[in-house]
This record gives sequence, C-alpha cells and structure tokens, in this order.
Amino acid sequence: MYRALYRLLARLDAETIHDGVVAGLRTAGKAPPLRAALRALCGVPADDALAVTAFGVRFAHPLGLAGGFDKHADMLHAAAALGFAHIEVGTVTPRPQPGNPRPRIFRLPEDGALINRMGFPGAGVEALTKRLERRPAGLPAWVSLGKNKDTPLGDAGRDYTLLLERLYPHADAFTINISSPNTPELRRLQTREYLSDLLAGLRETAARLAGNAPPKPLLVKIAPDLDWAEIETVAELALQHGLAGIVATNTTLARDGLRGPARGETGGLSGKPLRARSTEIIRHLRGGCGDRLTLVGVGGVFDGDDIWDKLAAGASLVQAYTGFIYEGPTFARKALRGLKRRMQAEGVASLAEMVGR
Ligand SMILES: Cc1cc2nc3c(=O)[nH]c(=O)nc-3n(C[C@H](O)[C@H](O)[C@H](O)COP(=O)(O)O)c2cc1C
Repeated sequence: MYRALYRLLARLDAETIHDGVVAGLRTAGKAPPLRAALRALCGVPADDALAVTAFGVRFAHPLGLAGGFDKHADMLHAAAALGFAHIEVGTVTPRPQPGNPRPRIFRLPEDGALINRMGFPGAGVEALTKRLERRPAGLPAWVSLGKNKDTPLGDAGRDYTLLLERLYPHADAFTINISSPNTPELRRLQTREYLSDLLAGLRETAARLAGNAPPKPLLVKIAPDLDWAEIETVAELALQHGLAGIVATNTTLARDGLRGPARGETGGLSGKPLRARSTEIIRHLRGGCGDRLTLVGVGGVFDGDDIWDKLAAGASLVQAYTGFIYEGPTFARKALRGLKRRMQAEGVASLAEMVGR
C-alpha cells in the first residue's frame, strides 16, 4: 500500500510531501487513539534480546531516527509509536534562517538515494526549546547542533555553545554537526585547527551545566568524505576532550555509479550508495579507539542486515533517514524483524553480547 501511495506522492515536490507527513504524524502522535493505532500497525514489540546500552543508557533497540527528519521536534510521540528507540531532532541553529531556495530535496529511487541541500532551515533555538520543554517521556531525544549560515567560521564556537546552554535541560544527548555539506565551509570545523577549541569549549560548557551530575553525552557527526588521517584526527580530539562518541556519517559529496536523473543536483547524497562507506568508517574507528567511544552508524540502513552490518563493524546504535522514506511507516518493525532473523542465523541470542565489543 505504501509503495502505491509513494508512486503517487513521488510526483510532488519531496519537501512538500515531507512537511505534510511530519504534520500528519504530529497530529496523530498527539491523539492517543491515533497514536495507539500507529503503534499497533507499525510499532516494535519490546524484546530484551534487542536492547543495547550506550554511554550508560539503555536503548530498547539500536535503531533511531537520524538528524534532519524531524527538524523541529514535531513528531516525538509518533517516532516512538513508529518503533524508533531514539530520535535526533534538528539540526537547529541559534537564529531562525530560511535555508537554501527550494526545491532542495531530490529523489533518486533507482539508486535508493536522496540528494538534499536544505542548508539548516528552521525557526531557531527558542522555538525548538519550547517544543522540547513539553516533550514526552520515554523516547530518548538528542539534539543536533549547527551554526547559522552567516556566522563566520571563527565565531562558530559561540553558536554551538549558545545552543548547548539553551537546550541542555531539554535533551538527553547532543550531536555537534560539523559535517553538513550545505552550509558553506561548515566541514572545515572538522580540521584540528577549529575542532580542538570547539570540542574543548563545548565539553567545558557541558561540565559546567551538569553541576555535580555526570555531563550529558556529546557526540560529533562526521562526513564520509574525510580521509583516514582526517577521521583519526577527529577521533583523537573526541577522546582528548572526553566526548561520548561519533556519529558516522552525514551525507556525501561523492556521486559514483548513480543512475537517477537527479544525480547532477548539488547537495549531500544519502541512502544505499553511502552504506558501504559509512560502515567502513565505523570499522576503522572501532579498530582505532576500541570501546572508548560510542559509535553511531548512519548511512544506507534499509533493513535488518544493514543494521547487523553496522553493529558487527562496531556501532552501538544505528540511525536511518533515507531508508525510512523508501520503506515507509513499517520500516522500523520490518528492519528489526530482519535483525532478529539475522541474529538467529548468526547464533547471537542478545545484542548485548556483541554491541560495543
Ligand atoms: C533531506 C535530508 C535532510 C537532512 N538534514 C540533516 C540535518 O539537519 N542534520 C544532520 O545531522 N543530518 C541531516 N541529514 C543527514 C542524515 O541524518 C544522515 O546522516 C544521512 O542522510 C545518511 O543516512 P541515510 O542514508 O539513512 O539517509 C539529512 C538527510 C536528508 C536526506
């Protein structure tokens, strides 16, 4: 049914559909009978064998909704009902900004991919804070932090610090997004020149805000287009400054082997073409830093085998965006069923046995 509907909707602008779906999920999520129906049709039944622990927190299973899908924390209730075990909202910027001109999301169904050049559109941190103040209990919510387009790179630290200070009481963890290809120069923040000071400042801010409690986890999200030396620099600095983990990866600028007519569009590519590269990065990071960092695998997760591959490479958690778009509302349920089948085939009784090892 979703595929037939998808073919119909695919004639319309991708972002218009996205906004409509998120608005619908926002409404459904807030109405208990609709939420219950969503849960019954799409939810993931509790299963201790799928539970994982990452940075001391228990997650019902490893699959979360990746940054950028629910930019404004509209669908927290619905995300839980749809079976996700955590959500990353945002990316938020301090001040409201329009993002790039539309259209700015392009489908490549032939490739199981999307290209986007959103450029962090949003209503800014005050609007997001109000939403998160009323967030439902039960679903771990992380916030992805970004800088405004017109903030000079040298002042980026101020944007990230302001966001962390404002949002700290209202989220469970924070992802420092320095890897979107759609904000000019943002990816330069991944170099030692900028990153060391940025992470040191944010870590200090988190410690101050935490008071006597342990600071909430800070993660950094990296681009798949970094080379190994650059990835190792990020990992070294993440360890040096006491970060909880790395989210790997954001979208890619690579365009190898695509068939979709939209392949020439400017922006970041997500989905199946990114899968192998992001898994390879997880494996490399796990080899280099052992269990000292929590790794979150993102890129081309469409089914249970994709989740398995990222966990086997060393991720403790995984996230998906494009797979959810193409597979539809039962994505999490089907993917976790597939994961359970794969665990049985591999002789793994519970994910706790393998995750993070
Ligand atoms: C339309 C769109 C918007 C996105 N916006 C963000 C964002 O605001 N912040 C972010 O960290 N990642 C963003 N991403 C990247 C995803 O979170 C994810 O890292 C990437 O798409 C790879 O995962 P996937 O193959 O499952 O889509 C966006 C992706 C898409 C397709």
